[in-house]
Amino acid sequence: MHQGNRTTISEFLLLGLSNQAEQQKLLFVLFLGMYLVTVVGNGLIILAIGLDSCLHTPMYLFLANLSFADISSISTSVPKMLINIQTKTQSISYESCITQMYFSIVFVVIDNFLLGVMAYDRFVAICHPLNYVTIMQPRLCVLLTVIPWVLSNTVALTHTLLLLPLLFCDSNSLPHFFCDLAPLLKLSCSDSRINELVLFFLGSSVVTFPSALIFFSYVCIVRVVLRISSTEGKRKAFSTCGSHLTVVLLFYGTIVGVYFFPSSTHPDDGDKIGAVLFTVVTPMMNPFIYSLRNKDMKGALRKLISRKRFLPLMC
Ligand SMILES: *[C@@H]1O[C@H](CO)[C@@H](O)[C@H](O)[C@H]1NC(C)=O
Repeated sequence: MHQGNRTTISEFLLLGLSNQAEQQKLLFVLFLGMYLVTVVGNGLIILAIGLDSCLHTPMYLFLANLSFADISSISTSVPKMLINIQTKTQSISYESCITQMYFSIVFVVIDNFLLGVMAYDRFVAICHPLNYVTIMQPRLCVLLTVIPWVLSNTVALTHTLLLLPLLFCDSNSLPHFFCDLAPLLKLSCSDSRINELVLFFLGSSVVTFPSALIFFSYVCIVRVVLRISSTEGKRKAFSTCGSHLTVVLLFYGTIVGVYFFPSSTHPDDGDKIGAVLFTVVTPMMNPFIYSLRNKDMKGALRKLISRKRFLPLMC
């Protein structure tokens, strides 16, 4: 173990996704486009739900929370990357790097838990429809949106407190486009075995609990839907949870694709592709999945765009 001094590193260099100059322009345009699409798309969802009192149901309030987490998630990494490409610098201060890592963990974990919460909501709506109103009280809904925040901040704080004592000696170049935890641990010259163990345990529980919730909710939902005899009824039941299922498959498909079939040629590329998918592509896709497949959402968006004054809509 080196006996370096942490103050020797006051900044990190984010090497980004490519080191070729001509690819930088393409990356800039691509990521700026994805960033704007994400912010506008999710922003419209939050506005449409907030202003339309017909959509003040748990399902849509959770969706608005997911959109908020998506905007925040992409905003932790992409703006800094765009600024660095534009100003042709790679540096990020030590403090900014830790802050970026903290919030990138917070929002990915919140996304994960909100998908679980949304599955639970669909489970109650389809498997216990008569008790839906009594179970999904406003107080429970607030609790179900607060818990992900508390848990994700706890997870991020744990990782951050464990990272702070680590020393960075020889190199401060991070082969990544933002300060992600795993590449930071790889870069450190201290013994980071405890950090990696904690990352493994917290990471897998953060993925396991919501996905178990989603799995059992959908087992029940599918059983109920198969029992419905009319095709119209089946279609209706699936249309309310089809969009959620699409997001879930996209999210967990990414996890399986990136972590269970990592590319053997460039191990670092797996990290980068995973990070791009989690922090950029999924947040961008969510609004499309929800608004293109959902009639109420489409109606609310149309109302939002076509009206002149900003007054709350009546049902
Ligand atoms: C998130 O959900 C809570 C409770 O369901 C709701 O009160 C709040 O308005 C939602 N947040 C957003 C940004 O829509």
